[in-house]
Amino acid sequence: MLTKRDLRKVIRKVIGNRLLVLASNREPYIHIYKEGKIDYIRPVGGAVTALDPVMRACGGIWVASGSGPADKKVVNKKGEVGVPPENPKYTLKRIWLSKEEENGYYFGFSNKAIWPLCHVTYTRPVFEESDWRHYKKVNEKFADAIIKKIGRKKAFVWIQDYHLALLAKYLKEKNPNIKTAHFWHIPWPNPEAFRICPKKKEILEGLLANDLLGFHILYFCRNFLETVNLELEARVDNERTSVIYRGHETLIRGFPISVDFEELSKLSDSKKVAKEVSKIKEEFALTKIEFIIMGLDRIDYTKGILEKIKAVDRFFEKYPEYKERVVFIQKGALSRMHIETYKDLNDQINDQVEDVNWKHSTEGWAPVIFARRHFSREEISAFYKIADICLISPLHDGMNLVAKEYIAARNDLSGVVVLSQFTGAARELKSVIQVNPYDPDSFADKIKKAIEMGAEEKQKKMERLRKVVLENNIYKWAIKFISELQKI
Ligand code: F6P
Repeated sequence: MLTKRDLRKVIRKVIGNRLLVLASNREPYIHIYKEGKIDYIRPVGGAVTALDPVMRACGGIWVASGSGPADKKVVNKKGEVGVPPENPKYTLKRIWLSKEEENGYYFGFSNKAIWPLCHVTYTRPVFEESDWRHYKKVNEKFADAIIKKIGRKKAFVWIQDYHLALLAKYLKEKNPNIKTAHFWHIPWPNPEAFRICPKKKEILEGLLANDLLGFHILYFCRNFLETVNLELEARVDNERTSVIYRGHETLIRGFPISVDFEELSKLSDSKKVAKEVSKIKEEFALTKIEFIIMGLDRIDYTKGILEKIKAVDRFFEKYPEYKERVVFIQKGALSRMHIETYKDLNDQINDQVEDVNWKHSTEGWAPVIFARRHFSREEISAFYKIADICLISPLHDGMNLVAKEYIAARNDLSGVVVLSQFTGAARELKSVIQVNPYDPDSFADKIKKAIEMGAEEKQKKMERLRKVVLENNIYKWAIKFISELQKI
């Protein structure tokens, strides 16, 4: 198993005295006001969950957009603050966006255009010229802030996700000596899906300014290479798996992202989590329930939340003997609520939960609990610990780290993972029960199968899954990524 220490060694060897700068839209710590004091929360997205342990191990600067109500209160004049707040290991540099910028760049081009374009869930992308203008402007803003920070030093900039597709290009225009690598945290669709994007050439050119471009799985790499073949006059080198465009080479590689297995496993056995277990059982009246099924997602149409609740409904229709014995508790973090599709989805979920509960509930029991409040890491770990089944049903997902987190938390070798076949994680986690979220009947049957699985089989499967996640942890992911830079 590779560790933080191994990662530090590789960083020293490969990056040497270059400054390490990580850039993402979402910040890893959001400062808020709580009971009159400043506190912080950690957002739930996969990118920040995975990269915070890496930055804690390596140090450096993480540049991200400041989004918390108390964010400005805690930074210095340069917009910087040490994090994690209780024991700083790296610097978080916040970029401030105006309302218009946030609207056009984040809600607009990133999440109304690129997000649905890359996730094949039959949600139509919306392309607006004004959103694109803001997208370019904000990418340039990130570039200016990074260039200012780097000054004359040598640096390696590690760009994250679909919000910053043009950043490498802008950085290199300003300073050609900067090395950049980009990790794309969401799927790359097939060329047919991508070709409708009016800004496809600019996006591809932006990404090909990088020295290294990473996706979760080889399938996305292949889609990207096919897209480049179709859309640009570039040379795809199949031997090196790279693209040469206008004399510059970009290596294209697959790196399945992961979690800090050890930390999550330790947290699960901590006293704090034990306390949360009792509190949560009390709060959600779970003490007398025989089988707890959990779900944890941002409220997003790609996550298949409606499909999951429908499958639970079908499960109780088909197998009423499980009434009063099983509860499905779904935690949902509100997300991107200024976008109509997300607001509508939230309303649809409310209606659906109400219908299913009305249909199946008995006195003192309802099948579905939908909890929307923010949950701390300890509370989430407590849910992982008590849930007999973790139900993860995206219609399309680059990786999905909830599956890996749940596995890392199950030190008791119990628990079953039911996972959509349309996630990157399903390619690695062979011992889960795979589902097609579009097929409610077979989904319901898989829930039954998970509930009825014998203790021995559960243990065997969980053992195998834990081996995979322990071996392929987040440090291995980062080491493989950084090591690849040596080939540039
Ligand atoms: O996998 C990580 C991810 O899905 C990102 O692509 C996305 O930015 C994030 O989680 C969550 O979304 P947001 O930053 O919009 O809250």
